[in-house]
Amino acid sequence: MKKMIIANLKMNLNNEEMKNYKQALESSGIDGLIICPSYVFLTYMKSDKFELCSQNGYAVDKGAFTGEISFYQLNSLGIKYSLIGHSERRHVFKETDEDMNMKMQSSLRNNITPILCVGETKEDRENNKTNEVLETQLNIALKDINLTNIIIAYEPVWAIGTGLIPTTDEINNTHLHIKKMLKESLNIDSKVLYGGSVNLSNIGDITALDNVDGVLIGGASNDPNNLIAMYNKM
Ligand code: PGA
Repeated sequence: MKKMIIANLKMNLNNEEMKNYKQALESSGIDGLIICPSYVFLTYMKSDKFELCSQNGYAVDKGAFTGEISFYQLNSLGIKYSLIGHSERRHVFKETDEDMNMKMQSSLRNNITPILCVGETKEDRENNKTNEVLETQLNIALKDINLTNIIIAYEPVWAIGTGLIPTTDEINNTHLHIKKMLKESLNIDSKVLYGGSVNLSNIGDITALDNVDGVLIGGASNDPNNLIAMYNKM
């Protein structure tokens, strides 16, 4: 079975480019990709050829929160997945682990599978704190929630958009650590995806790793033909 591929388009494509993107994927004959477009394109991008994932969501269902979009609203559009705690949300928009916990609760309450992103900074890594940082992020984000259906994305902050990437052994070991921790302390078996500078040349090696259940791809997924080529390399 193919592993999961999630394409995070961030705030990159415009209306015309999204039309081309949709057409390329629909005519590719590929099923099962998960695409995260900007909110404004979620309705337009509905398709029976791929699933949609929101890039974020607000933890309160409805109310006076100008500019926000709730999991409750996303669910009413039939969206199945949402990223939560992407590194850019944490670092550019200063969202905290406690925010992630509220978002996890809200997405699960609204039947949206959360894809919780965790990852260490370059400094954490240089200080040998990777596992400790990941454990803190997971423990807070997953505290007191009903852990039925969640996905974890391990995305080292220093690997996102930089072309730098951990070795395959490091990725496999970190994923194993996350899986063990989830099993031992929370008794859950969760898929763990890798994200950070995944591209056409490394996707085959990364997805071949036993403890990697799929990939979250940013920059390299902006061109639909490159995304299709990456899918075919798995
Ligand atoms: P990248 O981004 O593939 O461009 O490194 C990954 C991500 O931000 O999820």
